[in-house]
Amino acid sequence: MVQSNTLIRPETPADYQAVERLTREAFWNVYRPGCLAHYIVHSFRHQPDFVPELDLVLEKAGKLIGHVMYVRARIQTDDGWEIPVMTFGPLSIHPDCQRQGLGKLLLDYSMSRARALGVGALCIKGDPAFYGESGFAAAGDKGLRYDGEPEGQEPPYFLVKELQKGFLDGVTGTYHMPKGYQVDEREAEEFDKIFCPKTN
Ligand SMILES: CC(C)(COP(=O)(O)OP(=O)(O)OC[C@H]1O[C@@H](n2cnc3c(N)ncnc32)[C@H](O)[C@@H]1OP(=O)(O)O)[C@@H](O)C(=O)NCCC(=O)NCCS
Repeated sequence: MVQSNTLIRPETPADYQAVERLTREAFWNVYRPGCLAHYIVHSFRHQPDFVPELDLVLEKAGKLIGHVMYVRARIQTDDGWEIPVMTFGPLSIHPDCQRQGLGKLLLDYSMSRARALGVGALCIKGDPAFYGESGFAAAGDKGLRYDGEPEGQEPPYFLVKELQKGFLDGVTGTYHMPKGYQVDEREAEEFDKIFCPKTN
């Protein structure tokens, strides 16, 4: 259940370290041993595809417990056009605060901001159990492929959501993940050394 003492606001430089610590806590050992997500956040902030207007933190009772950031991306259409879309993530809710509706609250609010900025659609690889609650559907069923995935075998966790109705009508093509999500693992491990060692 969403609690009333929450605030969503833009990230400021004063939040950077807290956001990276939060991201590390949320992602640690979830998708791989340790995680890269905090280094992705750290590296993305000054890249041209990063969208400062959609770099948001969630506070609960004055404590920073959530964060999401958005990145410009593109769909290369089968008939030779390039369509601007966005993706987002890392999206983090502190482990102590998960399954209270706060991830959905932050995601839905950030999407409303993105819609107001004129963003047409969002593509993401993620858990349909969570993103389905916010209106995402399998992108493969909508004629989209994920760059590098074998044709006709789009993974069920490649998802899309239109923010402007009809934005992807008649569009088939390939989604390209922004390059900033592919970080050097050794650099990430080096970066991780500035954080408190984790034992689990
Ligand atoms: C994914 C994440 C952001 C979700 O935030 P959250 O606050 O825990 O999720 P919510 O409470 O808002 O969930 C809303 C609904 O989504 C679904 N859902 C959320 N997490 C789920 C899970 N792990 N498994 C199945 N369904 C899930 C449920 O239907 C849930 O409603 P319910 O709790 O009433 O059943 C959070 O768990 C997190 O930070 N995880 C680690 C990092 C990560 O994986 N980030 C996303 C990838 S970028």
